[in-house]
Amino acid sequence: MKLIEVKNYEHMCELAASYISKKVQGNPNIRLGLATGGTPLGTYEKLIEDYKNGKTSYKQVVSFNLDEYIGLTGQNPNSYRFYMNDHFFNHIDIDLENTFVPNGTAVDLEQECRNYDEQILEKGGIDLQLLGIGSNGHIGFNEPGASFGSYTHVVELAESTREANSIYFENMEDVPKKAVTMGIASIMKSKEILLLVSGEHKHDALAKLLTGDLTEQFPASILKQHPSVTIMADEAAIGNLK
Ligand code: F6R
Repeated sequence: MKLIEVKNYEHMCELAASYISKKVQGNPNIRLGLATGGTPLGTYEKLIEDYKNGKTSYKQVVSFNLDEYIGLTGQNPNSYRFYMNDHFFNHIDIDLENTFVPNGTAVDLEQECRNYDEQILEKGGIDLQLLGIGSNGHIGFNEPGASFGSYTHVVELAESTREANSIYFENMEDVPKKAVTMGIASIMKSKEILLLVSGEHKHDALAKLLTGDLTEQFPASILKQHPSVTIMADEAAIGNLK
């Protein structure tokens, strides 16, 4: 894992966006794995700026998102489909048909999970996966204890994850209890991974990732075994880890 230290959130977003846009320019058919949550918001903003400056086209890009809440339609502002359209896809020239987010309202969710993995395979796999990390070490919605061998599946969200995400909902009861997520094995199949870590509240998770053991109790620890991981972390997250 290669750690790139950046000053602050703004700097991280600039660097991440320039990293991603260069990859897209170098491979216009790139298959991107994308994340939601607070961390990548600034990166999407910078990517939109870069697009508006005419630098990068997404016409042939295919994207797969990590996860989606169960029970929320794409029209629900808290769904990850809505987030992606609103914060990124609607502002660039990507073909929405080429953007995939698990369907959290599928009648047969098990089938939806299998279809999602098949779609990833059919499109040729993910070239670059963007990741954030939960304070408990989750990646995607693979909570502590998730099998390292898992592909896309239905998960029960940890209470700490629901609490962290409740800032986007009117009240805690509205936060879904379940989600569909790409599994650890799906994430590990990506050719390359870019992990963004920002803020003091992510310090302990980053410390565990860099210095802790490989264990399913800390899902992100699997990234140590991936051949091409770049971590961009800001000073607040790194703290005394140098
Ligand atoms: C989002 C996702 C999650 C988040 C993680 C960190 O698609 O899969 O793993 O990356 O929960 O969230 P933020 O960035 O809000 O701290």
